[in-house]
Order: sequence, then structure tokens, then C-alpha cells
Amino acid sequence: MMSSVKVECVVKANALVGEGPVWEESDQMLLFVDIIGQKIHRWSPATDQVQFVGTADTVGFAVPRRSGGYVAGVGRSIVAVDWLNQKMTSLVDVDKDKPNNRFNDGKVDPSGRLLAGTMGKEVRPAQVEKKQGSLYSVNSDLTVTKYLSQLDISNGLDWSLDQRTFFYIDSLSLRVDALDYDPNTGHLGNRRAVYHMEDGEGLPDGMTVDAEGRLWVACYNRGRVINIDPTTGVRLQTVSLPATKITSCCFGGPDYSDLYVTSACLGLDQSERSQQPLAGNVFRVRGLGVKGRPSHSFSG
Ligand code: BGC
Ligand code: CA
Repeated sequence: MMSSVKVECVVKANALVGEGPVWEESDQMLLFVDIIGQKIHRWSPATDQVQFVGTADTVGFAVPRRSGGYVAGVGRSIVAVDWLNQKMTSLVDVDKDKPNNRFNDGKVDPSGRLLAGTMGKEVRPAQVEKKQGSLYSVNSDLTVTKYLSQLDISNGLDWSLDQRTFFYIDSLSLRVDALDYDPNTGHLGNRRAVYHMEDGEGLPDGMTVDAEGRLWVACYNRGRVINIDPTTGVRLQTVSLPATKITSCCFGGPDYSDLYVTSACLGLDQSERSQQPLAGNVFRVRGLGVKGRPSHSFSG
């Protein structure tokens, strides 16, 4: 099908590491974080207003919470965020034996369970103390189960349409993996590769699954989002963006046909910065001819 793809910069967030976009259907707003800038942002396309709260430590992700407000991965803690009063309360800590670790990407499944991963100390962008990270599942009663360990940079995650497959990225593996997922228990197993990044595609970072079950993967360092069919491992499409450090994406807008894409500027040198003045901002891609699915709220 022919479609004309249009990319525009919609939020001049100037984030060091913009990340974790989530469309909030109830308010028709885009939530995203600046991991290293230690902020949670919320942007309204209708008014073009951006609000933010500071998190006082790195924030890997922020997602809506069923009982109101958000939960965020701040440092090594899952914290409840009271947006109106700008208050944060720690709910649970992970990686207590690894004080230099921090939360990175996280997402909520349709039943309200949170999956989120950690990573070791980052000397500079994408250079980490290796094999320090883990992937955790957090239930509504705040019990935490570790499903994967020895990860380098725990990153993008999402589920298949039938929820029986969990797609997962450890960035430095240069792969997109799939695992069997039991939506009732949250049990994960049988990890295998569905896509190997090709030369010139950079590091796989955040990702989202569209309404047809295909993956949209942010390519860090290579200024693009790639669309992959996980059943065949074939790349179907490449969308170019005006910044190299593309970090994550999600569908949103009134009918979920807009792809929102976050980016980073941390790690760019002077000349790269002047060549990519939009790095660190949020982009909107229209005309892809495909829709996304609503996000879910954490039940704990
Ligand atoms: C991660 C960061 C990491 C960067 C490079 C970001 O999306 O969340 O922690 O430094 O990508 O891999
Ligand atoms: Ca990421």
C-alpha cells in the first residue's frame, strides 16, 4: 500500500535521554521521561502544553497507575508518583546487592502487571558494566519475580496480540527476542531470537507492537525506527528521523494512528549537536497506515 509518511517534531523537550513514551487515552496526553535529566514529562497535543515533575534520580520509565497517578522506575526503586502534589513514595526496591544499577525500560501488560528491567552503571551512553541487569515482573500485590539476569541493557518490551508472546530487547545483544508468556501467571520462558540487527541499524532500544502484531523498534545511533514482522523475522519498513539517538516509540492520538518517537542528545559531540538540533525532542510520524493499541495501567 502506498502511503505518504510525514515526520514532525512535536515536543521540544530538549531531553538528555528522552524515553518511554506512553499514550494516556483518558487525557489524550503523551507521557515520557528524560532518564538522565531526571524528569517525567506530560504533553498535551491539544494545548501543546508540557508539564513535568523532577524525580531526583534517574527515571527509566513512568506508566499510569490504576489507583491514580503513575508508577516510575526511579534509581532502583519502583515509586508511586502523585502528579498533582509532585510527591513520590517508594513501593519496592530491586538489585539491593548492586547499588550502581538503575531501572531502565518498563511496561504494563493487559492485566495490570508491570515488567521492568535494570542495567549496570553506564560509563557513557551505551557503555555499561556488563551482565549486571535483570528483568522483573511486579504483581499488583507488589511481589517481585526475577525472570532474566545477566543482562547488559534491559530495554524495549511489549506483548503479542494474544499476550502469549513477550517481545524483549537487551540492547547489546543486537537482537529482538521473544519469550513465551503466560498472561495468567506472568511466567516467562523459552527465550529465542526473532530479529538480528543488520549492519547500519545500530542498537535496538525501545519498541512497541502495533494492532497487527508487528514490531516497531527504535534504532539507537542510527536515526530510524524499523518495522519487523516477528513471525517471519523480515523487516518491512524503515522510518528515518532527524536525530541519530532514537530511543523508543509508541502509538497514540485519537485513533492510535500517530507514532510518537523519543530521542536523546546525551553522547553527541559538538558537531553532531549542531547537525541535529532536534536531538532530545519528541517526533510524530503520520501516514504509516497502521494503528497501535492502548496502553495499560499498573494494578498495584
Ligand atoms: C537507554 C539508556 C541507554 C541508551 C543507549 C536508552 O534508551 O534507556 O539507558 O544509555 O539507550 O543504549
Ligand atoms: Ca531504552
